[in-house]
Amino acid sequence: MYCEFYGFREMPFNITPDPKFLYLSPTHLEAMQHLRYGIQQKKGFIVLTGEVGCGKTTLCRQLLDEIDNHHIETALILNPRLSETELISAILRDLGATPTDNTQAALLEQLNAHLLSLIDAGKDIVVIIDESQNMSFEALEHVRLLSNLETNTQKLLQIILIGQPELKEKLKQERLRQLRQRVLVFYDLQPLKRSEVAQYIQHRLSLAGGNGRPTFSRWAVGKIYRHSRGIPRIVNSLCDKALLSAYVGSRDCVTWWDVRRAIKEGAI
Ligand SMILES: Nc1ncnc2c1ncn2[C@@H]1O[C@H](COP(=O)(O)OP(=O)(O)OP(=O)(O)O)[C@@H](O)[C@H]1O
Ligand SMILES: [Mg+2]
Repeated sequence: MYCEFYGFREMPFNITPDPKFLYLSPTHLEAMQHLRYGIQQKKGFIVLTGEVGCGKTTLCRQLLDEIDNHHIETALILNPRLSETELISAILRDLGATPTDNTQAALLEQLNAHLLSLIDAGKDIVVIIDESQNMSFEALEHVRLLSNLETNTQKLLQIILIGQPELKEKLKQERLRQLRQRVLVFYDLQPLKRSEVAQYIQHRLSLAGGNGRPTFSRWAVGKIYRHSRGIPRIVNSLCDKALLSAYVGSRDCVTWWDVRRAIKEGAI
């Protein structure tokens, strides 16, 4: 495979949301700053939206890596298609408790009691819900009710909703206005600009152990940028296939033609 030929320790363009490869473009940096600010200042609801494949889950994993586990308890919900009771049970389990009942009222009571005991023990609590564009209205309402836990000055529970642009549309609905009014920190992640795509590619190549081989020609980067419209997941898919094409030709430069072949061969 091309890894050995070019001297990479690992695949530079995997499409897993691995924060080790995080490239902090200006928009990714701003998004991180919004998330950190919301948690530090205990703002209650924080919303991060962005196009499919632009790095939301990667940022969320980075955030979890940096959070100080001694002071902050976290729950990460990755499958928000859960029913309301399943959602509350999942939050309970992630926060270290075992759900004792399966009726909604009992679970909510248990969760409230558990949250209060964590707060008494001096912990902050952060609940992150990824893919929240898929949450039902009822589940979102439940999450809102959880956020009512507060003192006179602070929210006791920080809730981060992460989702595709449909989440923005969902939050505009009249029946979700109570939730919308509670969102004090909001950030919409943007695709990468052309110069950022070039830096992104270099960043991943060097983290994978590359030592300057192969290079991507300016025309190759331009074509990757135009086809991907700056969406990192598409950039990864194109770069992976273009690298393979350059490797097949035993070349040290990935060219416009390699990218063209990658597109023709159906890179997403
Ligand atoms: N800033 C970044 N630095 C490094 N890699 C990134 C960055 N942003 C995205 N990626 C890469 O792009 C791919 C898609 O990222 P991710 O899964 O985080 O996107 P997403 O916004 O959560 O997508 P979806 O809307 O489908 O859930 C992953 O391989 C990820 O590593
Ligand atoms: Mg994601």
